[in-house]
Amino acid sequence: MRWDWHTWGRYRQIAEILGRHGFFFVLDSLGLSRHLPWGWRMRQSPAPSIDARWPERLRLVLADLGPTYIKLGQLASTRSDVLPPDVVQSLEHLQDDVPPFDFAEVTGILASEWGADYSTLVEHVDPEPLAAASIGQVHRARLADGRAIVVKVRRPGIVEQSEADFRILRTLAELAEHRWPWAQEAQLTEVVEELISALREEMDFTIEARNTDTGRANLTDSDEVVVPEVIWSLTRSSVLVLEDLPGEKITDGAALARTGREPRQLARTLVAVIYRQIFEQGFFHADPHPGNIHLDAEGRLIFLDWGLVGVLSRVMRHHSVDLVLGLAQGDSELVADALMAMNGNRWQTDRMRLIRDIERLRHRYYEAQLGSFPVGQALSDIFRVARRHHLQVPSEYLLLARTAVILDGVVRQLDPAFSLVELGKPMALELIRQRLDPRNWLGPALGAGRRSLASFMALPGELERTLATLSRGEVRIVLEHRNMDHILWHWEKLANRIALSFLLGAVVLGTAWVVRRQQLTHLPGLPFGTYAFVVTLVLAAGLFLAAVRRGRL
Ligand SMILES: Nc1ncnc2c1ncn2[C@@H]1O[C@H](COP(=O)(O)OP(=O)(O)O)[C@@H](O)[C@H]1O
Ligand SMILES: [Mg+2]
Repeated sequence: MRWDWHTWGRYRQIAEILGRHGFFFVLDSLGLSRHLPWGWRMRQSPAPSIDARWPERLRLVLADLGPTYIKLGQLASTRSDVLPPDVVQSLEHLQDDVPPFDFAEVTGILASEWGADYSTLVEHVDPEPLAAASIGQVHRARLADGRAIVVKVRRPGIVEQSEADFRILRTLAELAEHRWPWAQEAQLTEVVEELISALREEMDFTIEARNTDTGRANLTDSDEVVVPEVIWSLTRSSVLVLEDLPGEKITDGAALARTGREPRQLARTLVAVIYRQIFEQGFFHADPHPGNIHLDAEGRLIFLDWGLVGVLSRVMRHHSVDLVLGLAQGDSELVADALMAMNGNRWQTDRMRLIRDIERLRHRYYEAQLGSFPVGQALSDIFRVARRHHLQVPSEYLLLARTAVILDGVVRQLDPAFSLVELGKPMALELIRQRLDPRNWLGPALGAGRRSLASFMALPGELERTLATLSRGEVRIVLEHRNMDHILWHWEKLANRIALSFLLGAVVLGTAWVVRRQQLTHLPGLPFGTYAFVVTLVLAAGLFLAAVRRGRL
């Protein structure tokens, strides 16, 4: 760790903010109190320790720490497997109400990215920002050909500041792992690394541009959804340029009334589109809150802000469908098997105990009517149970759970009686029906010739379960034994053949030698070579007979 002046100053700032919100005990326990100025601590009110409001106070700390931490907090709210539910809930409300930066800075960045005379490309940029957030701010603009666009400009200095914050964060996580057993248990440094790389990606607007393109391509066939086109010629890692698609938040009552869309119907459309992204396309918008999902004048949904997306492989999609179906049907075995299949490290897991714990969880949700079944919350709880059973749930699924939580919230605002499960169940069943259709799995399986275990995942759940048992239980040992026997049998056969070839060679040579000397008729005075020849002949015959008798030739 470099102890330059800037880093030290930032440490002190972090210590002060933690202290201000009553987290002195954290400072003391991490040995960071020495960064506080003399007397400062004395002036603060006595520090509360962990109390009921600490998740709330944690949110305030992150908000005060600035953009990097706000964004990290938002991302951390996906980690329902490690963080307690009240912390997750508090972090979900972490808004990035950051003041906008000056328009002069915006034009400065544009000039350095597009060239000083960019007015030939972009005729006008509205000085009033449309929105300002922690990473960037958005301005309406117009291309030289008159086309309406929006320009999202990255906050100046945010990359450098974040990198400095990342270094501090790493050190704090390491410190915490040394001092607090729970941090070690939760593999805090690894969690922090994952968050950092997610945030780095979010700060690179070319990645967001690519995601927008993919999302747009996946939804072109729908006349109910639109995604802005990326203007690639002007897009850089610090500037994202998109076609302007005016609209209002999907939950905006006035906009709904204007377009004449029925909220319940709109909720169905939204959920169907997101389910399609998740389960069919495996590429989903992972932040579908009303600020990012708008409604245009014709009543279509506009999907904005593809900064955070989830990607699920075919196999992962299958497991997700199983999980959701298991939840919807209250089938704890299906849920347990989906969880185990999601994980590479399942050998340590006791399936029966896992099923028992899921069953317990199910009873907690049993009271909930289908209409109010909180899928997102249930998924998060299930992943927490999985972690208790040493199953490490890949982060893609955690993102999926968070997406479901956000979607739950939006849909409930549109129609309180609406249920994600209600729509999820028929869809999951339809997807499973498609999965079972031989045309859908035989083709790719045969065509690609990739006969890995993964392709078996596409087979019915029953077969998958049997396979899991096969690969877990004693049967595997029997299979290996048989294989070994077969291999040994081959080797023995091969060795016998080689030995015999040598001996036969020796016999042939010996015969030639004996015949040449014509000594076979003078038995009493036989030379040593002839004896050797006869012995070799006898041995060869013996080996030959033994091999033939045991079927090893
Ligand atoms: N293509 C667009 N057309 C119209 N408005 C947009 C467009 N992209 C973004 N906006 C506006 O800017 C706001 C912030 O954009 P967003 O991409 O969500 O940024 P952030 O990542 O900061 O949340 C949106 O809520 C929306 O009002
Ligand atoms: Mg947004």
